[in-house]
Amino acid sequence: MSAANFPAPEVKPANPNFSSGPCSKRPGYSLANLRTETLGRSHRSALGAEALRRACEDTARILNLPEGYRVGIVPASDTGAMEMTMWSMLGPRPVDIFAWESFGKEWVNDVTKQLRLENVSLYQADYGKLPDFEQADASHDIIFTWNGTTSGVKVVDADWISDNRQGITICDATSAVFAMEMPWEKLDVVTFSWQKVLGGEGAHGVLILSPRAVERLESYTPPWPMPKIFRLTKGGNLNEGIFQGSTINTPSMLCVEDYLDALGWVESLGGLKACIAKSQANLDVIQRFVENHDWIQFLAETEDTVSNTSVCLTLDLEADQVKQIVKLLEQEKVAYDIGSYRDAPPGLRIWCGSTVEESDVQALMPWIEWAYQKVKAG
Ligand SMILES: Cc1ncc(COP(=O)(O)O)c(C=O)c1O
Repeated sequence: MSAANFPAPEVKPANPNFSSGPCSKRPGYSLANLRTETLGRSHRSALGAEALRRACEDTARILNLPEGYRVGIVPASDTGAMEMTMWSMLGPRPVDIFAWESFGKEWVNDVTKQLRLENVSLYQADYGKLPDFEQADASHDIIFTWNGTTSGVKVVDADWISDNRQGITICDATSAVFAMEMPWEKLDVVTFSWQKVLGGEGAHGVLILSPRAVERLESYTPPWPMPKIFRLTKGGNLNEGIFQGSTINTPSMLCVEDYLDALGWVESLGGLKACIAKSQANLDVIQRFVENHDWIQFLAETEDTVSNTSVCLTLDLEADQVKQIVKLLEQEKVAYDIGSYRDAPPGLRIWCGSTVEESDVQALMPWIEWAYQKVKAG
């Protein structure tokens, strides 16, 4: 059959939302399911405070956090959680930063150009690769991203983090939490945002602290000014309220209710393991497709580093041809927002977190083939 005559597949994904953030809402999502009693009320009312506290507690329970780990809701999404951490905790020890895509590189920028710390070692790698984690020094603070959302490359394990470390580990895990097993005992600060794996709303970040991270906060005062929305301590002690639902400033209670709905859905699915399995099954669909088509590859260079959430693919086409594919699939209402990130190599990025249905990923694959043939034929 000539490529020009390649017929369009008959079945479209029931849900064409494959964006890597904000990510697709959960199957069965409806605004009508959200509780509205907390709206139009003070977030410090008994009702509001209880909803916020529940969001923290349910997160800790579902993620199975170790005893003593705290969960707080903070302003400004994952970026807010990461920046308040870096501004509050960095300084007393040398810092090792590992970066291999756009977001990790943002944290490098913060540490070197904004905080202007001097004792910093950068370990960077290109899109598709991971840096050499064996360079991590147990006496240094360590900053890294668990899943590189813009390269589709994830960390394989945390064996390179010493159990006897003196520094703290700060892990941006926004595309990983609820989709990958996290070795909590190796991680002192973990951040994520609601808009990612559970398809929540933008604006709020989650900050998870180990007892060692709390110890750092209570034993160290940075020399630079600290904006109110970064302040995690009061009078030298941890502001415990933040980790019990008493947020630093006013949150959106609509976003909180939306997050509680997502957490309820995770539990109805069977909890964290079910979420991870669903995401993995989505990736498996793409993996099979890649195996059977030699014109499409994962951007990740080794199989064990292929992300099961932000799946990044390269094609044997020019950048503008890839853009045409993305446009065609959007026009056909088959897939929205699947172009690679603006700083990343040209390609497709298909979100495969648990809010995406396997049947939709399956339905998408023939459409990608169709669009490829069409664009290739010119
Ligand atoms: C790894 C990573 N870090 C940070 C961010 C920034 O997240 P937010 O917009 O929630 O602050 C993103 C967003 O995609 C991300 O993927």
